[in-house]
Amino acid sequence: MEIDFVAWIGLALRWLHLITGIAWIGSSFYFVWLDNSLKDSELWAVHGGGFYHKKKYLVAPDHMPEDLHWFKWEAYFTWISGFLLLSLVYYYGAGLNLIDHAKMYLDPGEAVLLGLAFIAGGWIFYDSLCKTDIGKNNRLFGCIWFLALTGAAYALNQIFSGRGAYIHVGAMIGTVMVANVFFVIIPNQKKVVAALLAGKKPDPRLGAQAKQRSLHNNYMTLPVLLIMISNHYPMLFGHPYNWLILAGLSAASWFIRQFFNLKHKGDVNYWYPAIGSVLFVLVMLFSSGVFNGTAGAVSGEKVSAAEVRSLIRTHCSACHSDTPTHTGMAEAPLGVMFDTMEQIKKHAPRIKARAVEIKDMPLGNEKNMTEEERRKLGAGLDQLPR
Ligand code: HEC
Repeated sequence: MEIDFVAWIGLALRWLHLITGIAWIGSSFYFVWLDNSLKDSELWAVHGGGFYHKKKYLVAPDHMPEDLHWFKWEAYFTWISGFLLLSLVYYYGAGLNLIDHAKMYLDPGEAVLLGLAFIAGGWIFYDSLCKTDIGKNNRLFGCIWFLALTGAAYALNQIFSGRGAYIHVGAMIGTVMVANVFFVIIPNQKKVVAALLAGKKPDPRLGAQAKQRSLHNNYMTLPVLLIMISNHYPMLFGHPYNWLILAGLSAASWFIRQFFNLKHKGDVNYWYPAIGSVLFVLVMLFSSGVFNGTAGAVSGEKVSAAEVRSLIRTHCSACHSDTPTHTGMAEAPLGVMFDTMEQIKKHAPRIKARAVEIKDMPLGNEKNMTEEERRKLGAGLDQLPR
């Protein structure tokens, strides 16, 4: 019996990350909705067969209830599981998933240090900016933070594989969100509780700071979720302008989020989702090459089926085979194999997409597939006899 521990540990971490992430984001969406929907600090709701009557106390109630529920472990475990997963897939697996020698020649240690520096740097920059006067102006703050993240995405894409760049932007945003809970929101709430227990009036600035960070988290949620699912979509992370695509979709998500935030307060404005949807479609057209003329590029050169097979044998078969030879690859990834001509034909459009257009395959590009070879493979796939 052979156990693929890396795969099983990865599964457990990913599962945990998803569950804790849902618990965290779910409760935070709920509280944003609740806060916006209160009328005279009260709200009635029905759920699961019971009626609920909620009441908000602006700074805090006159005396502390014995049993107060804190929402924090959901956030902490989302970060812990996420960080372990990042370490397993992108740091332990740096050679395959993080480093792209065509972009920058790094050894795994350097790549990991750079990745960690971006994550820590993101929080330091964000937290410092919050504490300046700019932090008081939500719109201006939002624009600067958005540009800073877009710049980081651009820089990361010069250093790492597209996938590695995306996940690091996601880790930067996610870390800021959890650090907001850990370093600001919860400590401030603790101070409020302590003041109340001591019979003093809590400082309203503590609540205001926590509110600012919560508001930021609210708008960062949709982009971070997009990044977490983006590794299923090579048309996003694999695009040469992947950082621009990420900026476009994040901007679209701002309009969607804003729609719901306003709607909870009774202000329904369909311009927001309309603009968000138009942005989404523009990103789709851009990513598909409509604007840069690469869609459907063809080449006149003759390439035989035998050459196609040989290119695939050299660059793909270590993994995409019934009997993979690549270390750590117990079976063909996603069950996709290119052993026979039948299989190659069946997968031809996807082979072309990943190896010729997006170029994120061969994963890790260990045998240095050249531009010339990619072009040849693309032309050959187009000419395969049906
Ligand atoms: C080092 C291992 C490795 C090599 C070499 C490799 N791949 Fe992959 N490939 C993977 C892994 C892992 C996945 C699954 C993750 C993903 O889709 O990104 C994958 C997924 C794919 C998919 C997506 C299948 C689907 O159903 O979505 C295609 C297509 C693909 N590879 C094509 C290629 C081609 C073409 C080559 C050679 C030019 C190649 N791969 C070389 C590891 C490899």
